[in-house]
Amino acid sequence: MSEILQKSSLSKEDIITLLSFTDNEQQKLCNHAANIKQQQTGNIVWLRGLIELSNLCEKNCYYCGIRCSNKKVVRYSLTHDEVMLAVMQAYKKGYGSVAIQSGEITSKSFTDNINKIVADSKKMTHGEIGITLSCGEQSEETYRRWFESGADRYLLRIETSSEALYGKLHPSNEQHSYAKRVNALESLRKTGYQVGTGVMIGLPFQTKEMLADDLLFMKQFDIDMCGMGPYIEHTDTPLYAIREQLPPLTERLNLSLKMISLLRILMPDINIAATTALQAIQKEGRELAILAGANVLMPNITPKKYRDDYFLYNNKPVSARSDDDELAALEQGLRAIDHEIGFFRQGNSLHFHPLST
Ligand code: 5AD
Ligand code: SF4
Repeated sequence: MSEILQKSSLSKEDIITLLSFTDNEQQKLCNHAANIKQQQTGNIVWLRGLIELSNLCEKNCYYCGIRCSNKKVVRYSLTHDEVMLAVMQAYKKGYGSVAIQSGEITSKSFTDNINKIVADSKKMTHGEIGITLSCGEQSEETYRRWFESGADRYLLRIETSSEALYGKLHPSNEQHSYAKRVNALESLRKTGYQVGTGVMIGLPFQTKEMLADDLLFMKQFDIDMCGMGPYIEHTDTPLYAIREQLPPLTERLNLSLKMISLLRILMPDINIAATTALQAIQKEGRELAILAGANVLMPNITPKKYRDDYFLYNNKPVSARSDDDELAALEQGLRAIDHEIGFFRQGNSLHFHPLST
């Protein structure tokens, strides 16, 4: 085991071996990744205030609670003023960056709205707030428009790099095409964003070999940031029917932590998020991810009245505490593991070098 970690580069077989480790061996992998993180990005954790802009979605992914066929969802969209209020609060509190996430909507009115949010957020904060968008597949022209208005980063998860598994998790039509998703990632790169992707971990039919390929896909695509986490079933989705075939939740959590450590080893200077789905399995899931090599946290700052309606998976943590109390608790939790929040800084990916054109 320790011999594998001393290697200068990890092969696919090495990664598969490391993904199978448990207990003490897993701890060694985690410590190795933590050392690399310490050398590269130190013990600072960057914040992105997460705004769940809308749960409207044109797509029908078999795993997701807000898929368009789920008629139980109460659909909402934040008003422009609600978004701006959340952005300004985040800015004043020193979050440094916000992440604006929504279902996939390609209408002109929606893409115009995002454009206005991006432009106004930059204007109101004298260009200081960092903006990550996560609004699905869009045309290259739309991506460019949002970038030119000031968006800095874009996160589009590939979900799985296995085209065969992708096919099983999505309806088979042009709207849900794997090739289109890869093309969208390429458009984002061409446009000039810091590009992020990610996968779900512990999916039905997913093997360790596929997870190793996911990591190699990210390395080969030379991503700047990553958001990945466990797959958690949602009651009102087609995949719920095969929940018995899934690995137990704790195994999905441990696999996710090992994936984070391995990505940190493969790509030492990128930004890796400790995602909310980890916290849905274990209360301290995000802190465990920070210890395993993650360096970004995304506290939810969506207006409270909408939060119950952005349900992608079961057990999404919805805190009874105020956002300020949540942040204070998070700071305390991080201090206990010798980390601190990088307030008032955007926290861009050290891996990113802007296009020179
Ligand atoms: N479990 C975990 N993550 C999910 N996502 C969607 N549904 C689930 C689920 N059931 C993730 C997908 C998507 C992001 C918005 O949320 O990776 O890209
Ligand atoms: Fe829509 Fe994204 Fe959910 Fe798919 S995963 S249904 S695109 S919100």
